[in-house]
Amino acid sequence: MSDPRKPNAKDFRVAIIGGGMCGLACAVGLARLAGIQAEVFEAAPKFEEVGAGVGLGPNALRALDRLGVLDAVLAQTEDADRTARRMVFVSGLDQHEEVYDYNNSSELTPADTGIGIYRPAFLDAVLLLVDPKTTHFNKRCTSVSSTASGAYCIHFADGTSHEADLVIGADGIKSVLRTAVVSTEKKVLQFTNTVAYRGLVPRETLERDGMKIDMSQRVYCFVGIDKHIIAFPIRSGKIINIVAFATDNSVPAGSVEVTGPWVEPVPQQEVLDKYEGWGPDVMIMLNHLKNPSKWFIHSLTPLQTFIREKIALVGDAAHGMAPHLGSGVGQGFEDVFVLCELLAHPSTNLSNLEDVLKAYDALRVPRANMVLERSHRAGVIYEAYGKPGYESAGDMEGHLAGIWEPIWRHDLDADVASAIAGLQQRGAFSAAD
Ligand SMILES: Cc1cc2nc3c(=O)[nH]c(=O)nc-3n(C[C@H](O)[C@H](O)[C@H](O)COP(=O)(O)OP(=O)(O)OC[C@H]3O[C@@H](n4cnc5c(N)ncnc54)[C@H](O)[C@@H]3O)c2cc1C
Ligand SMILES: *[C@@H]1O[C@H](CO)[C@@H](O)[C@H](O)[C@H]1NC(C)=O
Ligand SMILES: *[C@@H]1O[C@H](CO)[C@@H](O)[C@H](O)[C@H]1NC(C)=O
Ligand SMILES: *[C@@H]1O[C@H](CO)[C@@H](O)[C@H](O)[C@H]1NC(C)=O
Repeated sequence: MSDPRKPNAKDFRVAIIGGGMCGLACAVGLARLAGIQAEVFEAAPKFEEVGAGVGLGPNALRALDRLGVLDAVLAQTEDADRTARRMVFVSGLDQHEEVYDYNNSSELTPADTGIGIYRPAFLDAVLLLVDPKTTHFNKRCTSVSSTASGAYCIHFADGTSHEADLVIGADGIKSVLRTAVVSTEKKVLQFTNTVAYRGLVPRETLERDGMKIDMSQRVYCFVGIDKHIIAFPIRSGKIINIVAFATDNSVPAGSVEVTGPWVEPVPQQEVLDKYEGWGPDVMIMLNHLKNPSKWFIHSLTPLQTFIREKIALVGDAAHGMAPHLGSGVGQGFEDVFVLCELLAHPSTNLSNLEDVLKAYDALRVPRANMVLERSHRAGVIYEAYGKPGYESAGDMEGHLAGIWEPIWRHDLDADVASAIAGLQQRGAFSAAD
């Protein structure tokens, strides 16, 4: 591991725009794997995460581990329990009959385990690994321009600017950096017609009120028509993270523009009304969703590229997706790991940076877009329970079997190795390195 106070080990300067989960993981990864001191520019006055849970699959944990972040996260949180992310699907209605237990018949291996984690706890843990001298707040990037010497000048809303050779856009689904990468006028960001009501409830409270399903271990998905609910434990099973989705299928996808804020507090009654007639365990959960927030779920249409010259997008900036497979940030961590590994390579320097980013792009675009498209499809399946072709447990199994397999079981090291071999073959890297 390199000393974080050591000067930059490379002949190029790196700026990261956005200090969310992916931007901060990237800052740590660059310092630890490549000896690069990146500067992080965050629009908000401090690093902050929404007070909710997030599920991290086995592939997300592997990427975090390789970035040197996982141990700190597990040590700093009450979320250390690795659990099966294999979802149990139950009917949202009546007595919540079991519909499908994802791969439950096979043995639980480390390759099937992940964690549910409280987002602010993740951030607190990662922040301990970031040099505060490299982080800058109230820096909302507005644009990026090229300098005469071939570097970039990053402009901020406060009128200041910063120069860097490599710019990493980790500025989330509303990314400004994306406009510097995607040249077409085509609209790539869409409202999915799905809203999500979110909240946290102590598990004890649910049990006291007679909830029958044991929520202490597994991830549950309550399925129905046009609606579904995901619930999973965080904080060692003490708190249940609840996300209730509802889709308006009366309007074509992409036809509705959300002009107001994408997150707003709503009266609990709105949620209770939406799920009227659903089964008893659902009603117990929703009765305890005291101050729900409503999220307008947006998704990108798959981008053709995540890079332009020496600008690279990571995380939601590159592939903001529907959360239905709990895999969005995991793809972001994979981006960050691959990028850090390629930048860390001894042959990587300013003169071949564009080739290195092309190798990053070739690996990440197909994979992240595959996950994006699967995530969308998963939401459609969850909200079709009861429709023809999805009526029985067997029907649902037919649609869901194996859906997480390519996401969870992927060898990133093999990806990186093949990218490096390609760079050597093309002469961007000298073959001896
Ligand atoms: C309801 C819901 C549930 C979800 N559940 C899961 C789950 O279980 N598992 C999972 O893997 N994913 C889940 N996701 C997706 C996950 O939240 C995102 O993939 C993840 O937050 C993306 O991280 P990021 O760092 O790329 O972007 P963000 O978290 O959006 O961070 C971007 C950062 O950049 C800053 N910023 C923005 N614009 C600028 C600018 N112009 N200049 C400077 N800074 C800027 C922002 O303030 C922010 O700090 C869920 C999403 C939703 C909405
Ligand atoms: C698998 O499913 C069966 C039947 O629902 C259940 O009894 C068992 O506990 C499950 N196993 C695991 C590992 O969850
Ligand atoms: C950059 O790396 C390449 C490939 O390893 C090498 O050929 C070249 O001399 C390096 N350039 C500089 C300026 O170090
Ligand atoms: C999980 O199920 C899928 C599809 O049925 C199968 O391909 C995969 O091998 C299973 N995983 C394990 C660990 O059994």
